[in-house]
Amino acid sequence: MDLKQAHIETILAQAGNRTDDVKTGAVSTPIYLTTAYRHAGLGQSTGYDYSRETNPTRDVLQQTLAQLEDGAGAFALSSGMAAIQLAFSTFKTGDTIVVSDDLYGGSFRFFDFLHENYGLNFELWDGQDNDRLTQLVAAPATKGIWLETPSNPTMKLIDIQKTASIAHEHHVKVLVDNTFYTPLLQRPLHDGADIVVHSATKYLAGHNDVLAGVVVCKTQADLAALDRNLTTTGAVLDPFDCWLLLRSLKTLPLRLAQHERSAKAIAQNLRDNPAVDQVLYPGHGGMISFYLHDESWVDDVLQHLGIISFAESLGGAESLLTVPAIQTHADLTEEERQAKHITKNLLRLSVGLENTDDLIADLTQAIQAAQHSIAAGKDD
Ligand SMILES: Cc1ncc(COP(=O)(O)O)c(C=O)c1O
Repeated sequence: MDLKQAHIETILAQAGNRTDDVKTGAVSTPIYLTTAYRHAGLGQSTGYDYSRETNPTRDVLQQTLAQLEDGAGAFALSSGMAAIQLAFSTFKTGDTIVVSDDLYGGSFRFFDFLHENYGLNFELWDGQDNDRLTQLVAAPATKGIWLETPSNPTMKLIDIQKTASIAHEHHVKVLVDNTFYTPLLQRPLHDGADIVVHSATKYLAGHNDVLAGVVVCKTQADLAALDRNLTTTGAVLDPFDCWLLLRSLKTLPLRLAQHERSAKAIAQNLRDNPAVDQVLYPGHGGMISFYLHDESWVDDVLQHLGIISFAESLGGAESLLTVPAIQTHADLTEEERQAKHITKNLLRLSVGLENTDDLIADLTQAIQAAQHSIAAGKDD
């Protein structure tokens, strides 16, 4: 059977195999820790000249990522933020970018940086009002739409197909941060997006140990433009981390299935917990946000967790609980956070790979303990 026709699980499990058939037959792709490549003579090259431009380990990873998102090609970068920066590198001073209003806080910080230093302008869109979107993309200065779906941290879903059809009527590009769902749950390029970005630090790498970013382009034209920009700016992923990320991708389908299985059960359990006012779970994936009934319980919940860690990331084997208002979204003003419902009683759980019942037990006892300790404090 031709591997190109195989299911995505097979393609990922086989990633890197048969890349070194001639020399050794290595099943795991070699890590090419070289920056320079010797040339046989003038005008002769193996195709590799210098590792900022190309590296064989990075090439194998990038080909796998392109297959995963079904794009013309992909780039592996040193962080998700480096990937976002590359995706924005074709926009120019005076361009307007429409951005969905509930995003990773670091993306807003980057947009402020682009506005203040390079004169790009940004318009917020709620991800739902398509009449407003039509107005925004009709403005001649609008050149791009940036969105995250599910949104972060309030888990709103945005219709990528509809967004892309409105945008493309006005030749506006659609860029999607697909970190939360991964290409196994959502393939934005199939839905009409032009560019997909990942913080590969999260589900793609999946073990809370590699910092990486990914950009995938639908067209050869975008690929060539971004290739030129990345070779110039240089934030490529190093060969060892490329290998680690490639290794992680092999288990992505299994990991994601377990993240989702547990998340569904935990979301239901939280909905049944009277100490929780509201649960935001989009139906798929491993991310859940929820509002504790009382903001004063938050610190005690964090203190009483025995398995889940109070930490600021997502998508890894270890479950992490984040307080967006003081962590991922700390740079927003209080008014901005209130408008986005990112209040101090909002918690965001990245469901890890631990046993589902253990995670439910850990959360339940931490919430109970917090309630008791606050009640005891009030009685004193
Ligand atoms: C949705 C999303 N996009 C992008 C980023 C930035 O990625 P990185 O931390 O790998 O630079 C993050 C980081 O938390 C994120 O959650």
